[in-house]
Amino acid sequence: MHAPAPSPLPARNLEHAGASILVFGDAATACHAAADRFADTLGSALQERGRAVLGLATGATPVRLYASLVARHRRGELSFADVATYNLDEFYPISPFDPKSYRFYMHRHLFEHVDLAPNRAHLLDGTVPEAFVAEHAAQYDRWIAADGGLDLQLLGIGRNGHIGFNEPTDRPVAETLALPTRLVDLHPITRADASREFGAEEEVIPRALTLGVAPILAARAILVLAFGSNKADAVARSLTGAMTSRVPGSLLQSVPGKVTWFLDAEAARGLL
Ligand code: F6R
Repeated sequence: MHAPAPSPLPARNLEHAGASILVFGDAATACHAAADRFADTLGSALQERGRAVLGLATGATPVRLYASLVARHRRGELSFADVATYNLDEFYPISPFDPKSYRFYMHRHLFEHVDLAPNRAHLLDGTVPEAFVAEHAAQYDRWIAADGGLDLQLLGIGRNGHIGFNEPTDRPVAETLALPTRLVDLHPITRADASREFGAEEEVIPRALTLGVAPILAARAILVLAFGSNKADAVARSLTGAMTSRVPGSLLQSVPGKVTWFLDAEAARGLL
């Protein structure tokens, strides 16, 4: 008796709040499908403009997506030669050599394995002197705009609904939608979750640089990945609740037609 091979097709295909939602039996299948979409978007941008500009995320969620992209590159199916990347966020302050830095993560999971030019792999810089952080963040938004804007933004979602490190607040929605890239304080739930990498909550660097809500929403396409039951609440509130700054993921409803969610059945529990 053999277990049936996992279906490459989404188990379910839903729509909520102008987003398309693909629900897969497990996270590995979802990551494979998300890698297909990622590679297709990259290919279309190369065809249309001769180059592609990609917004990348870190964390546990996209690790298998990056592994799948690296495997495609090794098979000669995917090249990053004409690609520029911009990461979503970085702890502040942090050394790029710190294994907990997102620069280190990106190097380990993607950059050292593919043919991306070193001066086209951009991250917010955790070493910028504090007096120049605002200028650095504003400059990062200008770099993306000067590069023609993001063809694709990859996102995970926090248990508290954060996207990038745009954390829940009580701001009016219109104000949050206009937020640029900036230095932020991490929310207690984000700090609790980051204790996984930092060893203890008190050790977590409490601030970070994050791409703003405005440049995230300006991407031409947005892929959101969420796996596991601990994301089910944030996913359901983002997709079926009202748009509110208390659930930053719900602000993705403001760009109908741009967003595709790749979920496993557990993360989709509140939608099915
Ligand atoms: C990471 C990022 C965060 C994570 C989110 C989920 O660059 O911007 O918003 O996507 O915190 O993290 P994981 O994937 O570790 O559950």
